[in-house]
Amino acid sequence: MAITVVVPTFNEGPNVAELVRRLDEALAGSPGSCVLFVDDSKDDTPSIIERVAGEQAAHGGLPVRLIHREKADGGLSGAVVEGLRSVRTEWAVVMDGDLQHPPELASVLASRGQEGGLDVVVASRYIGGGDAGGLDGYWRRAVSSTSALLARSMFPLRLRNVTDPLTGFFAVRLAALDLDGLRPRGFKILLEVLARGKRTLAVGEEPFVFGERYAGSSKATLRMGMRYLEQLASLRFGRMSRFAIIGGMGAVWNVLILWALTTLGVYYLTAAVIAAVVTISVNFALQERYVFRDLRAEGRHGFWSRLAHSFAFNGTEAAVRLPILWWVVEVSGLWPVLVQALMLVVAFLLRFVFHAQVVYRP
Ligand code: GDD
Ligand code: MN
Repeated sequence: MAITVVVPTFNEGPNVAELVRRLDEALAGSPGSCVLFVDDSKDDTPSIIERVAGEQAAHGGLPVRLIHREKADGGLSGAVVEGLRSVRTEWAVVMDGDLQHPPELASVLASRGQEGGLDVVVASRYIGGGDAGGLDGYWRRAVSSTSALLARSMFPLRLRNVTDPLTGFFAVRLAALDLDGLRPRGFKILLEVLARGKRTLAVGEEPFVFGERYAGSSKATLRMGMRYLEQLASLRFGRMSRFAIIGGMGAVWNVLILWALTTLGVYYLTAAVIAAVVTISVNFALQERYVFRDLRAEGRHGFWSRLAHSFAFNGTEAAVRLPILWWVVEVSGLWPVLVQALMLVVAFLLRFVFHAQVVYRP
């Protein structure tokens, strides 16, 4: 089958010839295929691509096309969308230009999609047989898998079968996409495609091993991390914002109940326990209805089990927060109010992920 391989590039000159050589070999049995570079480079990468394109044309190999953008609108994601707009084959494969994504897998992804009647096939580092090996350093791996967990918790239905929503390697059937509806920014184009569209796409996954860069160094920066958070925000945080509103209201109930009971003469510790129990119950009822309604029916836990899990998490969290607060303040010497604020944010995220991944697990 014919595919277009869309490769975004930013200063990847030394990788171009090797990538094209391997794609040419891998796609020898797929007539009508081509590779399309969408380039935002500030160096001589475009002229290298043009030279390689000439060589390919001369010996009748895999055709090489180039879109060079002077203004890098939307960065990596913007480049991918621009490339997808000019694809003329039914299926496209998006992959990086630094050979961290094995070119041999491109046609495997696309044919799996076509044969399976799918819209998207994701090359995943996180299913059996896959590996994130090329993610340098413990820290980047942790950030990558935490970001993926967060995205999956926000979009549990859309990303149900997607273990690696942040990968830059996937095949897509163009007719399934609404390119004008996307708001590409930063690095995470696949998340945009899966989470933004009007309908849930049919997604399959193939494991792959994220390799080492062939040449050059990564363009991912801390700024890209911030862009990721912006992107999640612009996706309206999915159900997380409703979860946050309910949690915030819970804090208000809690204080009001405490105030009312102590005014009535109830001992403050007893009042605090009652306030906690009432708040957790009310929050649970609200989140059943307004946050996870669509997940309830299909979930593996029945009502009482969900309630028990929710209570167990909230109770444990409340119980351990004080000793942890004490410990962090003693060790770090930071302002207790700041530590408490940070802990509340972390606790909120943990509670959200726990509910999406455990309590309402499909
Ligand atoms: N056109 C264009 N414009 N291409 C870009 C830009 C840009 O602004 N920024 C980066 N690229 C290209 C790079 O040249 C490379 O081909 C590809 O996008 C990926 O960039 P890398 O710098 O190699 O990113 P990485 O290896 O750190 O990140 C990879 O892993 C992430 C998840 O961990 C990529 O696969 C990302 O897509 C992925 O999200
Ligand atoms: Mn890379």
